[in-house]
Amino acid sequence: VTNKEKYRPAYHHTPAWGWMNDPNGMFYKDGVWHLYYQHNPYGSLWDNLSWGHSTSRDLVHWTFEGDPVEPDAWGTIFSGSSIVDHDGVAGYGKEAVVAYYTSAREGQTQSMAYSTDNGTTFTKYAGNPVITAKAPDFRDPHLFYAPDFKKYYVIVSCGQKMNIYSSDDLKTWTFESSFGEGYGCHEGVWECPDLMKMSNGKWVLVCNINPGGPFGGSATQYFVGNFDGHKFTCESNPEVTKWMDYGKDHYAAVTFDNAPDGRHVAIAWMSNWQYATQVPTQQYRSANSIPRDLGIFTDGGEDYVSVVPSPEMTAARGRRLASPSTKCEIVVSKLRDGATIVLSNGKGEKVTMKYSSKNKAFAMDRRTSGKVDFSDAFPCVTTAPTHGRINALRIFVDASSIEAFDADGKMAMTNLVFPTEPYNKLTVKGGKAVIYEIK
Ligand code: FRU
Repeated sequence: VTNKEKYRPAYHHTPAWGWMNDPNGMFYKDGVWHLYYQHNPYGSLWDNLSWGHSTSRDLVHWTFEGDPVEPDAWGTIFSGSSIVDHDGVAGYGKEAVVAYYTSAREGQTQSMAYSTDNGTTFTKYAGNPVITAKAPDFRDPHLFYAPDFKKYYVIVSCGQKMNIYSSDDLKTWTFESSFGEGYGCHEGVWECPDLMKMSNGKWVLVCNINPGGPFGGSATQYFVGNFDGHKFTCESNPEVTKWMDYGKDHYAAVTFDNAPDGRHVAIAWMSNWQYATQVPTQQYRSANSIPRDLGIFTDGGEDYVSVVPSPEMTAARGRRLASPSTKCEIVVSKLRDGATIVLSNGKGEKVTMKYSSKNKAFAMDRRTSGKVDFSDAFPCVTTAPTHGRINALRIFVDASSIEAFDADGKMAMTNLVFPTEPYNKLTVKGGKAVIYEIK
């Protein structure tokens, strides 16, 4: 890491060089987590979209594997997903990896590619594009298999709706239904969907939206309800909007296919379209969030998605530190009403976090966190409802990000920060802090 790259995170996935946005095509197979991503291999602005590929055995340390899906006559390669085809229904053998992505030229269509070498190289399907629709924003196909209905599905964003299609062979698709009209936030384009069954039998439909986020720009909303094999039904009142993360830098969150033990492991792009092209990093742009395990909790008769740092993050804890570093997790317990946590450096730059048990709220202020003037939309205070008491906060600090979680999963907040010197001081009032290095 050169001085030029002082903001490059230590334990978050970043492209070695070039631009990155959404995580794509994520799957787990034979002990390896595969992460693809919107990548411009030729520069640090959004262009030439290809799928970059990185792998990890622990969800913390990543190895770059090249750009296996590159633009073709159908267009550049936008976001999409992969599925491990255990039964070989697509015709490429058992355990082949089948990927769907959006081909973006003048219009947007859904195309397929497959891999018979565990996602290292992909062959594009000769029959592309596979799914078309008459809509300008039609993209980000997310594949899944539903054992309940013995069918394959793909959910594709379409303007401000999500279309669901079913298939038996991952190649021929039947339109089933579309969800969204009148539900949740509609102040932007709906993108990057996901649909998954949770351990309590409920289904969660993930809907990334840009703009329209709670603090402006990009954010991740979701709906809880039922999926009967044809149609998703939201169980909340139409006007209810639920956010997965209450920071400003959590977008395009989707989950891995084939994760072990029925886990729903999500990764988000840690930026916001309001200023993603202006952030002061060099040689590359953007990082992904730490991996998070999604679950369900109930508050006041409503179901919400719980978000906790994946257990792999706990396994990555190293020795205890006396003061914060650019590579640490801070655990704050015994929180009292009005608890205040301040991360600062010798330049007077600081990030202030506040917890109010009375108001059931958590806030993070990055207005004086360091470099903030590259965009008017960057300096801000983000606030989150905590759905009851927070027993402990887990705060992940890296060179240019802070992710705060209620350890029990009822609140998550992800924000970028660009201190001109690393924060090396932690002040906690109304709580007890322990700092762990991340190995
Ligand atoms: C979301 C998004 C997707 C699209 C991709 C293009 O950030 O706009 O909808 O597929 O980025 O890079």
